[in-house]
Amino acid sequence: MAAFGTVFMPKMALATFENNSWTTSSIVPSDKLEFHPGAHVLHYSSTCFEGLKAFKHEDGSVNIFRMDANIQRMAQSTNLLFLPAINEAQLAQMIKDTVGLYLDDVPSPPGSMYIRPTHIGTEPAIGKAAVSSETSLLYVLLSPVGDYFAVGAKPLRLLLEEDGMRCAPHMGMIKSGGNYASALGPISRARKECNADQILFCPNGDVQETGAANFILIDGNEIITKALDSSFLHGITRDSILTLARDAGMTITERNFTVDELLERAQKPGTEAALSGTAAVLTPVGTLIHNGKEFPVGSGEPGKTTLKLRQMLNDIQWGKAEDKYGWLEKA
Ligand SMILES: Cc1ncc(COP(=O)(O)O)c(C=O)c1O
Repeated sequence: MAAFGTVFMPKMALATFENNSWTTSSIVPSDKLEFHPGAHVLHYSSTCFEGLKAFKHEDGSVNIFRMDANIQRMAQSTNLLFLPAINEAQLAQMIKDTVGLYLDDVPSPPGSMYIRPTHIGTEPAIGKAAVSSETSLLYVLLSPVGDYFAVGAKPLRLLLEEDGMRCAPHMGMIKSGGNYASALGPISRARKECNADQILFCPNGDVQETGAANFILIDGNEIITKALDSSFLHGITRDSILTLARDAGMTITERNFTVDELLERAQKPGTEAALSGTAAVLTPVGTLIHNGKEFPVGSGEPGKTTLKLRQMLNDIQWGKAEDKYGWLEKA
């Protein structure tokens, strides 16, 4: 399978916001967009996006996972960036229309169709550094994908970064390109210098998230993860995993915790850590790197609770377990 996110379906749904209203969406070729080189997004990063997946079930049906939650998060990102408000019903229809064109192309599990709604400010106005774009463009790109982490269930190596932060604290809950740009330098250095897969951002010791996934710590029957605030992305996979774990009788503790506590708990043989995200699903973390020293998490191998929760989520997504939370919507 090609690298994650490098193959695209040839058509997509697109709508524009002009003269204070949204145009009817249309299906257009997905290999080009036309807008002015002075477009707001190119200069002042007025952009947000979403990432969700559609899954093929054994009966041939195609099912989109938690579309409503992703649309709500996109509406929130849009509002926090002062882009023109999206029409949530219209975006839902655009997603269904685009996926509906390619039902036969949705890969079977463990593959899926990755859906990337994107919203950008298009007003040609390079003097508007501190003023929002009055026009925008919304489109829904599709990319058939396999497993994001080609290494499969091989536990990840995370560098704990206490000095920097992923992005400005008021921007963390916005799924916006600028946040990824802000994290790129540190992550590139961590890869090169420590052979780390990701950075776990822990500004002033506060354990937050990595560049593209949330972080959870599993200590016996308890899951500990940072409580929601504006500083990090409110992952829909995080919410799904916590829901499944709670219903399976685990204790869910959403609170702030420090690097010291993390390293102390990681030393216990049964401790597990994992990253949650649409692409990562739930990927085991085997090693934490801190001040030049390496600390295995528990045994350093993929944890059994991590693998069990990952399976429970996949079973719902793949139509092998009852969708009792109503997370799937037929395309
Ligand atoms: C920075 C960041 N945190 C967390 C997540 C997880 O969010 P979700 O579970 O909604 O995919 C993502 C995206 O996958 C992300 O980019």
